[in-house]
Amino acid sequence: MAGEGFGVSPQRETPPDHRQDQREGQREDQRASQREDRDRVRIGDLVAVVRSDAMHKLLGMVERVARHNAAVLVTGETGTGKEMIARAIHQYSLRCNRPFVDVNCAALPDNLAESELFGHEKGAFSSADSQKPGLFEMANHGTLFLDEIGELDAKVQVKLLRVLDGVPYYRLGGSRKVTVDVRIVAATNLNLDEAVHDGRFRSDLYHRLNQFQLRVPPLRERHDDIAALAEFLLEQNLPGGQFSPAAMEVLIRAPWKGNVRELRNVLLKAVMHLESGRAEVRPADLLPFLGPHKHAPAAAGAGVAPQPFQGSLGDLERQAIFEALAKTGGDRDETARQLGISRRTLTRKLQRYEREDAANPGLGRINTDQQRYFRVAVHIPADLQLDTGVRIAAEINNVSIGGVALCSQETLNYGAKVQLCFGLNKTTSITTSAEVVWVEGKRVGLRFTALSATARRDLGRWLLQKAQSEGWDIGLAATETATV
Ligand SMILES: Nc1ncnc2c1ncn2[C@@H]1O[C@H](COP(=O)(O)OP(=O)(O)O)[C@@H](O)[C@H]1O
Ligand SMILES: [Mg+2]
Repeated sequence: MAGEGFGVSPQRETPPDHRQDQREGQREDQRASQREDRDRVRIGDLVAVVRSDAMHKLLGMVERVARHNAAVLVTGETGTGKEMIARAIHQYSLRCNRPFVDVNCAALPDNLAESELFGHEKGAFSSADSQKPGLFEMANHGTLFLDEIGELDAKVQVKLLRVLDGVPYYRLGGSRKVTVDVRIVAATNLNLDEAVHDGRFRSDLYHRLNQFQLRVPPLRERHDDIAALAEFLLEQNLPGGQFSPAAMEVLIRAPWKGNVRELRNVLLKAVMHLESGRAEVRPADLLPFLGPHKHAPAAAGAGVAPQPFQGSLGDLERQAIFEALAKTGGDRDETARQLGISRRTLTRKLQRYEREDAANPGLGRINTDQQRYFRVAVHIPADLQLDTGVRIAAEINNVSIGGVALCSQETLNYGAKVQLCFGLNKTTSITTSAEVVWVEGKRVGLRFTALSATARRDLGRWLLQKAQSEGWDIGLAATETATV
């Protein structure tokens, strides 16, 4: 018999279609582990699980703002990962080897907030039996994370604003001025626009903190992250465990008002209650912990009042569909049957909801001050012409409304005046005079000195498009008028 006596390994003896299956299996394992690598981002000691396009985009924006010293306001519902984003800003910045100090403003009693932030001298108040540096001093050269900034006492808001403006301050009871170099990242789950409007938060402080705003989307807007986080958390708490498809559907459709924090708690409880030896998590293991108020019909359906409907007819339909899905444990055929619609209609509607969620606008906002520094990294060929008529080829590496950084084939001198010409796309090119404002070998910074109104508008529009494609909300009018 062919092959006999050749000491074939058991693996080679397996029938061909089996081997095919094995290879497929290995490839699937490989794909899964590559996907996991992409899904997990190390932020200092933490692992962030990030699979959705929105969060990858947000991390890209984090890298961009990290390079600045400007204040960043991180907004988003509770448990979305704002603190994680704040840590990422620090980790990706040049301050990463310096301290990251975090303080929860909501936990600071009003009478201690000032001394905690700015320190006190011995005897400054009755219990001050020794001198204490404040959190600002502890964060010197690093990052101070002011969590739940919306809760900060009004008196401290005034002092904070002055310190953020670079004014030296005194420790409580002190007479020596303290100056610090601290980068501020603040976070809030409140709507600070509203708090300012109602007079609960100082508008000047809000604008000072809001140089860049990053919005962390709620978990229900990022289904891919729900799946990735759930897999990650299960792997940590039940190695080898997995979700049945219906259980995953339940997780994906839950409203997650408490976001990642709630997801983690639900999974911990579900795993704790799982009978020993069972590795598959099913809808029935999750539903008791999702809470009757969130999954009313799903919790056995007995006698629980439905949630009051709010919003448009479309919202009402959407809510009915999700509730029916939860009730059937994610069984689409059964859900469609109960709703009296075809399975195709159900799938179409679910796809539309997914698209609507993904298209949710605005992950970040840049305030007008910062807009003029907005630079886009590019590789655009440029043509330079010196006063002497000599022409030099160059490549532009970044562009803002005020100038460009480029790599020139010839050395240029500081202060040199040139005519610069480059194309933004096939139909639009920019020609302007410019001046060399910095030189680092062949890398040169040019400031535009006479950008025409048309060129300014074209460049402004182009920058706006680039900014929007990165996820930033940026006003065209502001871009058009900004100068360096
Ligand atoms: N993308 C993520 N990957 C892993 N864990 C996350 C992620 N986002 C949030 N978490 C975890 O969820 C919990 C809540 O996050 P946190 O940053 O404290 O939220 P927030 O500050 O918005 O309330 C923390 O334990 C955090 O580590
Ligand atoms: Mg927090």
